[in-house]
Amino acid sequence: MSKIVEKFLKDYKKPAFKIETINLTFELFEEETIVTSVMKFIKVDESVNELRLDSVDLELLELRLNDLKLQESRYQIDEKSLTIFGIPSTFEIQIKNKIYPHKNTELEGLYKSGDIFCTQNEPEGFRSITPYLDRPDIMSVFTTTVIADKMKYPVLLSNGNKIECHDSFDERHGVTWFDPHPKPAYLFALVAGDLGSITDEFMTLSGNKITLNIYCDFGNESKCFHAMKSLKEAMTWDEQKYGREYDLDIYNIVAVDSFNMGAMENKGLNIFNSAYVLADMDTATDANFMGIESVIAHEYFHNWTGNRITCRDWFQLTLKEGLTVFRDQSFSADLNSKEVQRIEDVKALRERQFVEDDSPTRHPIQPKSYISMNNFYTSTVYEKGAEVIRMIHTLLGEKKYRKATNLYFESFDGAAVTTDDFLWAMSEAGEIDLSQFKRWYHQSGTPKLEVKESFEGDTYLLRLKQVIPNAVDGTEQKAYYFPLKMGLLDENGEEILEKTLIISQEEEEFSFDGLESKPILSINRDFSAPIIVKQEENNFAFLMKHDTNSFIQYEATQNFALQTINKAINSDEIDEDFVNSFGHLLDLDVDLSYKSLLLELPTVSAIMQTQEKIDFDTIYKAKEKLLYSLATAFKEKLVQIYNQNHFPLSIDLTTQAISQRAIKNRVLRILSALENEEVAEMAKKQYSESLTMTDRIVALDILENIHASYAQEALEDFYKKYKTQTLVMNKYFAILASSGRDEVLQRVERLQLDKVYDEKVPNLVRSLIGSFSRNHKYFHAQDGSGYKFIADKIIELDKINPQMASSLANSFKIYDKLLDRNKKLLEQELKRVVSTQALSNNTYEIINKILMNA
Ligand code: BES
Ligand code: ZN
Repeated sequence: MSKIVEKFLKDYKKPAFKIETINLTFELFEEETIVTSVMKFIKVDESVNELRLDSVDLELLELRLNDLKLQESRYQIDEKSLTIFGIPSTFEIQIKNKIYPHKNTELEGLYKSGDIFCTQNEPEGFRSITPYLDRPDIMSVFTTTVIADKMKYPVLLSNGNKIECHDSFDERHGVTWFDPHPKPAYLFALVAGDLGSITDEFMTLSGNKITLNIYCDFGNESKCFHAMKSLKEAMTWDEQKYGREYDLDIYNIVAVDSFNMGAMENKGLNIFNSAYVLADMDTATDANFMGIESVIAHEYFHNWTGNRITCRDWFQLTLKEGLTVFRDQSFSADLNSKEVQRIEDVKALRERQFVEDDSPTRHPIQPKSYISMNNFYTSTVYEKGAEVIRMIHTLLGEKKYRKATNLYFESFDGAAVTTDDFLWAMSEAGEIDLSQFKRWYHQSGTPKLEVKESFEGDTYLLRLKQVIPNAVDGTEQKAYYFPLKMGLLDENGEEILEKTLIISQEEEEFSFDGLESKPILSINRDFSAPIIVKQEENNFAFLMKHDTNSFIQYEATQNFALQTINKAINSDEIDEDFVNSFGHLLDLDVDLSYKSLLLELPTVSAIMQTQEKIDFDTIYKAKEKLLYSLATAFKEKLVQIYNQNHFPLSIDLTTQAISQRAIKNRVLRILSALENEEVAEMAKKQYSESLTMTDRIVALDILENIHASYAQEALEDFYKKYKTQTLVMNKYFAILASSGRDEVLQRVERLQLDKVYDEKVPNLVRSLIGSFSRNHKYFHAQDGSGYKFIADKIIELDKINPQMASSLANSFKIYDKLLDRNKKLLEQELKRVVSTQALSNNTYEIINKILMNA
């Protein structure tokens, strides 16, 4: 193992050099690649005489300074760097080195995804391609020549515009790309392969015609149209909402099967996990289509928030990611349903970020230190980061926010900046003091807000108290500044007022007078701040019925359900009031996608968050019991809703068709709690007559969980139909690994030997092993078999792909909240993993934090 070094934000130093231009040549061969790099340096700090370039396991072929070959005494190579001594003021360095993309299983730097050469350089992959000042505040102008076999790699791509084709060599050819926009090395990209593609055009507001290409494996071209449509929508939206246009002649997207993340915003050459590009009605669910729309938009939006204006250092990651997630969420809200989008975003935040914020790996959206930067692409930096931007948006209002983002773009275009720079622009143009607000960037954990209410005379008094958790190291943290949107309703459910309060003190009071009777409080409307509200009194049933704020109506439903489930855990009884309120929901005349969210019971993860120590068995039993009660009480109504929406079997992506599928599948899932022949028949019928993957996958999942023999049939059919399509097989593995049936672990172990499964493809690992790690029933099995299995996988994967291993290690974060029995079992495994020989920094950092802070 290379030495473990912790990096600190406070140690940031300006670079001593600039790299004006870099000229790269890649000669691609089957077993090796020769990289030549020519860089023009300028010394900024005259007192510095040596140049230390980041470099991983360098195999150096040649090194020249100002065209002179350097003698070995003039430089030094270690595992992580190449250092050159006796450096003049301005100079040129030429490096030739050899790398082995076909052996690269980490999927960082230059690697092969099947037969395609591709790259992933964020955050620190470039240093494994060639020695460089691999930090985001070094921005340079890149010219790239790619040379490869003509037949095998007809398509050769890099950033920017194509400026030259070289066809003079026999069986080899080359292409030169030039990117005029200075950029950090993490945005460098290269692709070579024999690829199919679709092409389109976009005319920018100021009249530039842009060529848009999406590349994929041959045969998948017809699955790229939704991604292309999404790209054009994103381009238009950014022009209208932020005044930002695209700035090169060409925008390329390449879909590859082996990719650690979802997608990457390389300048002019986005590289995507094929799961976020390819879709048609036969193979992708409605959720997949939505996901593609948002990821395509996200990477496109980075062109301004990330590429034109980038991060000074990796501690600033939320500068680009939080902001860009906020932008993609706003985009999706504008294109689809605002209400549904907001609920989905909050749901995702609670499901992942709240859990992280309550775990030993919790950190501020701007962390203070890291061992492996790869571990900090977290839900906190992303989703909580987006909530922080959303609060700024709320505080400033649409108009000032636009003024402020304009100021940000004008002030920092072409620069590598900090979150402070961003906040400066917001406060300057927003005419607001954000100094206290800044705590959102540096403190961790989810704040709680305790709410007390009283009513006297005609005055309603609202008393609020912020309860701020300590940082992970025990340091006390201070009160936050945030917008709190609230409303008051009268006893008939009529709205009295809506207001956005500005909260800044630890304890604060607000009074409202001239009221006839005590109003009903509707608090944190639209989830205006990422906090946990603790109310003394609650009016869940009332708000479920009357609140005009769709988010609060949803929230009240969830809270009522949580309360009901917790009661059932303690008393084994189901609260009739909830059942009745649920009945009212079935009759609501609202958007059907929204309605299907209202009818969804809290996830196991949400229920877990209401408990000090987690007992999965009781959670499951109580939730199942509640579902069973609902299904029994409203069986006829549910079947009726199903029938109303099952036909016509529409196969398009209109809002109408999507929401009909959503509601129908929601009620079918509720009905499946009955586990009877009748529902099994419904699911079986839906499976066989379904024309969309959305319907098919829900039916398959239900059968898997309630009817072994029907499931068997359907699963065989599914496998036969889709075994050649890895993206669909991911769904198959996920259903089997998430199942509640007997012997799931044994099944997962067997599935690893399936012809389709491949441990080197992250999507497959995520769908089989990742899904199993979220299968509470088996992951937390009383004999420890689930923990042991995942620990073994972490150790095994760590040798192949440390990023995959450490993301799996995150499933152990829950350690501290487990019952003692489980805790002991898990502790053994944590210790076994952390003492593994040659463990990567990635995995070490996560496991060690869990063990240390428990
Ligand atoms: N810049 C990231 C991709 C990335 C993440 C590269 C981590 C290297 C390490 C990209 O913009 C991104 O955020 N992708 C997300 C999807 C997005 C819609 C939130 C991803 O890949 O999960
Ligand atoms: Zn991003």
